Amino acid sequence: MKTLLILGASGDLTGRLLLPGLGRLICRGKAGKIQLVGAGIEDWSREKWQDRVRTSFAGSTEKSNDDGKAALEAFATDSDYHSVDVTAPGALASLLDKLEGPVAIYFALPPAVSQKAAEVLEPEDVPVGTRLVMEKPFGSSEESAAELNATLVRLVPEDHIHRVDHFLGKVTVLNILGLRFANRLLEPLWNNTHIEKVEIVFDEELTLENRARYYDTAGALRDMIQSHLLEIMALIALDAPASLNERDLRDRISSVLRASKIEEPFSGTTRRARYTAGVIGERKVPNYTDEAGIDPSRETETLAEVEVSINSWRWAGVPFILRSGKALGQPRKEAVITFKPVPHLPEGFKGPDEATRLRIGFGPDTLQLELDVNGPGDIFELNRVAMSAELNEAEVLPYGEVIEGVLSGDPLLSVRGDTAEECWRIVEPTLTAWENGGVPL
Ligand code: BG6
Repeated sequence: MKTLLILGASGDLTGRLLLPGLGRLICRGKAGKIQLVGAGIEDWSREKWQDRVRTSFAGSTEKSNDDGKAALEAFATDSDYHSVDVTAPGALASLLDKLEGPVAIYFALPPAVSQKAAEVLEPEDVPVGTRLVMEKPFGSSEESAAELNATLVRLVPEDHIHRVDHFLGKVTVLNILGLRFANRLLEPLWNNTHIEKVEIVFDEELTLENRARYYDTAGALRDMIQSHLLEIMALIALDAPASLNERDLRDRISSVLRASKIEEPFSGTTRRARYTAGVIGERKVPNYTDEAGIDPSRETETLAEVEVSINSWRWAGVPFILRSGKALGQPRKEAVITFKPVPHLPEGFKGPDEATRLRIGFGPDTLQLELDVNGPGDIFELNRVAMSAELNEAEVLPYGEVIEGVLSGDPLLSVRGDTAEECWRIVEPTLTAWENGGVPL
């Protein structure tokens, strides 16, 4: 890859997540030889853009050695900016013409603008080797995701399209796969004979954080479950891939999602809620409906919980409960695998016989296995112990891991087109039922 072109260069996503992610990659020597080019609707000078790049790199500069600092500075000084309306026919094409290829085009834009920008491109405008990087939400329904997919594959092959899900950071994905498939102990038990339920919880302390314009039309089910937690579920549920090649792994992810469904009645399998005023630590949080830019009549949920059924031989009957909420006093980000009780507990044991539980914590990634053992004092009494480990930490930020995949041309951690459509197919009936008041807020 020779050029990383960021569309929406003046936007919040670029400054807050993309550039800091890129910065860490650069100072660890993982970005290779690329030029960064920003493009945006604002009439910025090259210097103004470079200042923005330096400001966003500041966190990386502080933590890096002299070589890293020099690399970041050289990168910023070399970067360029173009003022362009990417939705105007021919504008993006003529910018691409000026850049050294191959180019990775990062659409850090609102979904409708990304869609328009892709629509005005013609296949001949896009040089061979171009990669397209799309942010979430990818479409707004199964149908619109399919339309967007059709627009993109007209321009480049599927394995050159990177649909970003920063939850699919390399470390977390490989931590789950390594745990599951590099240990003899777990895989034989990893099915409906031995597992009672799986919960994937992402409860955040974060509130709206000034994102009303996006969030109030999205809500927790779209923002977190459709775009992130279903992918994590697939990693926990998939059959062993033969290799970590993108095709092998993404085929496995896809077959889990194709078998997945939220069963009706939705009043039994889904829940939605919205935060009210309270205090988180020192922070006073207003009612969601009193936050700036909110339209209460939309009834946007800030907490969503769904029970997904994976209708396969391995998982039939095991509920996968996915939940995410904002403004929760107790942050909790983990997957919990609860095993079934033993077939017979020998008589004579005392105390509660609790289920064996495996907890996989996210960011920082941790592992905890909760077991019953014989207690101190009365050895007939059962007691709970937990074996804990901290898992490998990422050297780079999640966005850095995503960009690294783009720059090295590896779509392994990108969401594949069919998967993006499946995730909408799974949540859409619930969204409709909620809109129609089928499940009270
Ligand atoms: C984003 C959602 O994709 O993920 C946010 O839009 C959410 O609402 C965030 O807070 C959580 O990810 P992270 O990595 O910031 O914990």
